[in-house]
Amino acid sequence: MQKMKIAIVYWSKNGTTEKAANIIGEKLSENEVDLFDLQIDPDPNVSGHDMVIIGGPIYFGMMQNPVKMFCKHNEKLLLEKEIGLFICSISREQDEAQFENAFSVKIRNHSRANACLGGELIFEKLNFFEKLMVWKVAESHLEFHIDQLETDTFVEKLYAVIANYCTA
Ligand SMILES: Cc1cc2nc3c(=O)[nH]c(=O)nc-3n(C[C@H](O)[C@H](O)[C@H](O)COP(=O)(O)O)c2cc1C
Repeated sequence: MQKMKIAIVYWSKNGTTEKAANIIGEKLSENEVDLFDLQIDPDPNVSGHDMVIIGGPIYFGMMQNPVKMFCKHNEKLLLEKEIGLFICSISREQDEAQFENAFSVKIRNHSRANACLGGELIFEKLNFFEKLMVWKVAESHLEFHIDQLETDTFVEKLYAVIANYCTA
């Protein structure tokens, strides 16, 4: 089977997007996968990769800046590659709008697989202000998790792109 060189670029504040990035990486591990944490390298070089998967968390309705900056800075390059996009968030009602707001129209239109993978609330990691704010977003639910089905569907879409790419 032909392999693809895949970069997974992510930023995570409390660890959930990192977890999601690792799960996706494992599921795609028949390929050559490199994970890039934007906290460690804010502008990784993905010019040698065939596919770039980009993910980040939503806080207060917004994708976090390091992800936005990476996309903006690399827009031209990303438009020449296969790309996949995902967000981690807990507000399912807001997901469509949050996703649209997270990535530019050009990047979204070019993407071959998009996903809202759910999220987690790890209360020990939140400060007092965040705990207060989160009650509003969480709407009194406490249990949130990465959505396995959404993750599997996302990876399936990516595999379809890989199959197409390798037979082209
Ligand atoms: C202070 C705060 C604000 C948040 N705001 C939103 C929000 O506006 N919409 C949403 O869907 N999720 C929101 N979340 C949930 C996060 O997106 C979720 O916890 C996600 O898993 C965080 O990912 P990370 O661990 O990679 O940083 C918020 C969480 C916190 C702690």
